[in-house]
Amino acid sequence: MGKNKLARFAENETFENLFQHTHYDIRNDKFPLKGRWNEDYFKNDNPIILELGCGKGEYTTGLAQFFPNSNFIGVDRKGARIWSGCKQAIESNIKNVAFIRTKIEDISLFFAENEVSEIWVTFPDPQPKKARRRLVSPNFIEKYRKIAVKGALLHLKTDSRLLYEYTLATAQEEGWEILENIENIYSESTNYLLKGIQTFYEKKWLADDLIISYLKLRIS
Ligand SMILES: C[S@@+](CC[C@H](N)C(=O)[O-])C[C@H]1O[C@@H](n2cnc3c(N)ncnc32)[C@H](O)[C@@H]1O
Repeated sequence: MGKNKLARFAENETFENLFQHTHYDIRNDKFPLKGRWNEDYFKNDNPIILELGCGKGEYTTGLAQFFPNSNFIGVDRKGARIWSGCKQAIESNIKNVAFIRTKIEDISLFFAENEVSEIWVTFPDPQPKKARRRLVSPNFIEKYRKIAVKGALLHLKTDSRLLYEYTLATAQEEGWEILENIENIYSESTNYLLKGIQTFYEKKWLADDLIISYLKLRIS
């Protein structure tokens, strides 16, 4: 393992805005902030919004600065990536932010019913061969439903035509309401939230001239 990664893992241990699955008895439902994020961590009653597969957490920190009256939590299994988001939030003194290092499969061990208001999924792996592993597949959406308020929204940004078309078709099959469908945000949208925040992967795909699509769905 590279020195840089090891240094990041070591610094992760010192971050007060990072919660790592390895530090809790999550299998026995003993994550202490489950159902208590607002009371014990954010100390307010603001809505909680997740970024799943957040990587370096650009949406988590970017949206948090744009919406100071909401709370944002980035989730990813990769410690060296999530380090960037934690560090940026600390250095920029962004208080309405936290990060969880865990598998998204385990998300219901970290949140109680009705604790989450909205979800962003930014540039997820398209998983061409395994639809069940897509973060927008019905089995994942079922997990999100368990922790989401009624009427919760899911925002998807993707460079993958396959994932975009799959999500549209699945939404229609499953009866998830499609609130916005923008095939090419850079030619069809003026929304700052879609174009003003760019993730690490988004910049990479834009440099390769890929089209970036956006879907806003009501999942519950
Ligand atoms: C293609 S990257 C996108 C990262 C970031 N959203 C961006 O746009 O730059 C996908 C991210 O999802 C994370 N990821 C994929 N599947 C996951 C899972 N099941 N649980 C937790 N993280 C996952 C990966 O670790 C990776 O950081």
